[in-house]
Amino acid sequence: MTNISRDQWRQLRQDAIDILDANRLDGWTRAAPRLYPHQWSWDSAFIAIGLAHIDHERAMAEMRSLFRGQWRNGMIPHIVFNPDVPAGEYFPDADRWACDTVAPDAPGGVRTSGICQPPVHAIAVQRAIALAPGSERARLAREAFGPLFEWHRYLLSARDPEGSGLVTIVHPWESGMDNSPRWTDALAAIEVDPARLAPYQRADLTHVEDPSQRPTQADYDRFLWIVDRLIDARYRVDAAAEPLPFRMKDVFFSAILVAANEALLRIATLAGASFEQVEIVESWIDRGRSGLADQWHDDLVMCCDRDLVAGRDVTVRTIASFAPFVAGNLTSTRRDALLAKWRSTAMLGDPRLKWRLPPSTSPVEAGFSPRAYWRGPVWPVMNWLFGWALRNVGAADDAAELAREGLAQVLAVGFAEYIEPFTGEPLGSSDQSWTAAVVLDWLDDVEPA
Ligand code: SER
Repeated sequence: MTNISRDQWRQLRQDAIDILDANRLDGWTRAAPRLYPHQWSWDSAFIAIGLAHIDHERAMAEMRSLFRGQWRNGMIPHIVFNPDVPAGEYFPDADRWACDTVAPDAPGGVRTSGICQPPVHAIAVQRAIALAPGSERARLAREAFGPLFEWHRYLLSARDPEGSGLVTIVHPWESGMDNSPRWTDALAAIEVDPARLAPYQRADLTHVEDPSQRPTQADYDRFLWIVDRLIDARYRVDAAAEPLPFRMKDVFFSAILVAANEALLRIATLAGASFEQVEIVESWIDRGRSGLADQWHDDLVMCCDRDLVAGRDVTVRTIASFAPFVAGNLTSTRRDALLAKWRSTAMLGDPRLKWRLPPSTSPVEAGFSPRAYWRGPVWPVMNWLFGWALRNVGAADDAAELAREGLAQVLAVGFAEYIEPFTGEPLGSSDQSWTAAVVLDWLDDVEPA
């Protein structure tokens, strides 16, 4: 299925393992060597998917280390801080989040951020279990089922008090796609009072020299402003005295939760979970799919986020508009329409693309910007996720194309965090752990020529 030679295959695999080893700390893996020196939630899950191909125990240790940071209300935080990172290396740091001083639900013994990220974890655990020897599977499933069940329960209660099946995110960082044009209008509507925003020093720009590759200063002011409002609410998002300034039903996050609940169902069976727990997970899946169906716009052929503050749907076309592929179980009409859109000039059919790989924002959007973080660059981890999703919805050729082109891109530019879609320029961090991880998963499926 690819044209990579046996030597290239061996070299790519070794390079990926070397990156994960270099970023390895005590039982967990840094998201990247300098820009992201802590443990990030969804990075870790993708990392575990790659590690499962080297050592299923190490993959499980990665998840176990993240679960140490699980909050009393079930939330898995988006960062578990590494206490050995010197002050000033990453911002906002644990002091700025202040979870251990203000949040009654924060865990003891480990410092974390106060928000979460897309719940890829059950998918990762299922992959690690599938690659473990048969005799170990039930033990691994029993260990992971409890934390995962509580995590998903948190998302479907505190983050979905309406019972819509869609998760409310309260900070753009929770989407994983920080500065996506999906959030432009909602962020613009937030009025920051400069007198009330404590001065701060960004650390990201000391690691990425060209600021145009990162979110802007205006974005950061709003990111920090929202953190302050969460601190005011002591991170009790469902019981905040003042309405939080950013509240969004995120369809991409919600679709990942549906897929993760499918994985959790299989983990539940292996773990010997109760009939009642299995029924609860099944109901979460149904709720999620029906919530996503409600956000489908036939005229636009896309699934739209809903801005709860403005009371309107967000119609900006990005990679997240293809969330129904991730949630799966689409009607054939909807699947075919979405596939046609995927292959059209709004995505993979743009003739300027260097590889047929999906830009994070559609090039037809006004907010498209090919070098700016989530506003246009190609993200290898998204190539993997959508390849996995497309395979699950029976689009095997489209899935194989992503693996083939994705590997060709890494061969050409290395293990970058994100890549300019037309020129192929590597952007952001180099030696990004999740890029190495998805390469390991792709290589497992590839026969060298
Ligand atoms: N992705 C964000 C960062 O760059 C927030 O986690 O730090």
